Amino acid sequence: MLDLLIKDANLPDGRSGVDIAVSEGRFETIAPAIEAEARKVISAGGRLVSPHFIDPHFHMDATLSLGKPRLNRSGTLLEGIALWGELKPLLTHEEVVERAMRYCDLAVSQGLLSIRSHVDVCDDRLLAVDALLEVREKVRPYIDLQLVAFPQDGLYRSPNAEKNLMRALDKGVDVVGGIPHFERTMLEGAASVQRLCEIASERGLLIDMHCDETDDPESRHIETLSAQTVRLGIQGRVAGSHLTSMHSMDNYYVSKLIPLMAEAQIHAIPNPLINITIQGRHDTYPKRRGMTRMPELLAAGINVSLGQDCCMDPWYSLGNADMLEVAHMAVHVAQMTSVAAMKQAFDAVTVNSARAIGLDEYGVEKGMPANCVLLQARDPVEAVRLKATRLAVIRNGEVISETDPRTARLNLAGRPDVVDPADYAPVEKAGETG
Ligand code: FE2
Repeated sequence: MLDLLIKDANLPDGRSGVDIAVSEGRFETIAPAIEAEARKVISAGGRLVSPHFIDPHFHMDATLSLGKPRLNRSGTLLEGIALWGELKPLLTHEEVVERAMRYCDLAVSQGLLSIRSHVDVCDDRLLAVDALLEVREKVRPYIDLQLVAFPQDGLYRSPNAEKNLMRALDKGVDVVGGIPHFERTMLEGAASVQRLCEIASERGLLIDMHCDETDDPESRHIETLSAQTVRLGIQGRVAGSHLTSMHSMDNYYVSKLIPLMAEAQIHAIPNPLINITIQGRHDTYPKRRGMTRMPELLAAGINVSLGQDCCMDPWYSLGNADMLEVAHMAVHVAQMTSVAAMKQAFDAVTVNSARAIGLDEYGVEKGMPANCVLLQARDPVEAVRLKATRLAVIRNGEVISETDPRTARLNLAGRPDVVDPADYAPVEKAGETG
């Protein structure tokens, strides 16, 4: 007897009308017309079954703190950091745990089951570190929570940052973070990148740095991060998050930089929701978008995944744990509107993110853990377009969240009674436009 049988599903790779059999928490068979008894049967009705969503860049210690102790008036990164600095001394362990747990409930409802969260280590108490380590254990049955030791106030600018970062790693924080563009000088920024790469290399840990989250085209720490990655032989183990200065850089310089990033096998993690709002704040008109060069990075073979970064915190007052909203924003801001590019945007919140955070057991494939999401959409492009409703969220073969389909009842003479947004023309019929 199977634990679960999903009938008539579409898959992101284009397969349609397949059945998915789950046994002992893993995908057992994926094939047309499986005839078998199952404890639970879900009829997908030609809807998309996707591997679960992954957020490779988030700040769970700050989430849902919007308005505490006040709102960000300028909308800038720097006021956000200052505001977080005002909130930090007021945090309590219980309050951080409570906010994070509430956020994880929301994440599950959105099919978001793997999250890499940065956690601020520039607090001698390491209060947020201890709180999120507790949350990591609490949510382990349903969310993979990976933590990054993040020296928010600068490795060299904050007096005890390096010592506290080491303490956080000793406590079991998974990944080494950094923020070179917030150090006092470019030289100290470059030195922080080198030091942090050496720490990660010595400990055999992954690296994920906030890198060049600025409109300053001279902010070139991604160059140093790539070069240090090659020097230490840790290619493929390093992520550069944000990379917004690349938006404003000279094209000639970028033509040299991107091949270096490819050589270092850097994982690029743009965060389009936050950066379309935070960047360009010092511009009059035209205002820069502040999105890194996602299509060009992808064309160079660089793994690009998309992060949410913030949800109702000192930096961003919106957010909904919706990685399809993130992909939707990327399509707009990076002008990735061809069919192929929209599929890439979907990959950037699923498979590419799995590679970025080093999640090996991932995908709707035989033998993998049965983690997936049934969407009210037929294919990845429609999922992005609709920010599709998560009809069922499945973790290790168990349905852990269900949402009713989003439909409207019409009251118009001679017109249909019900509108289902997923019943409109699929992209194949609309034609490939590029
Ligand atoms: Fe961030």
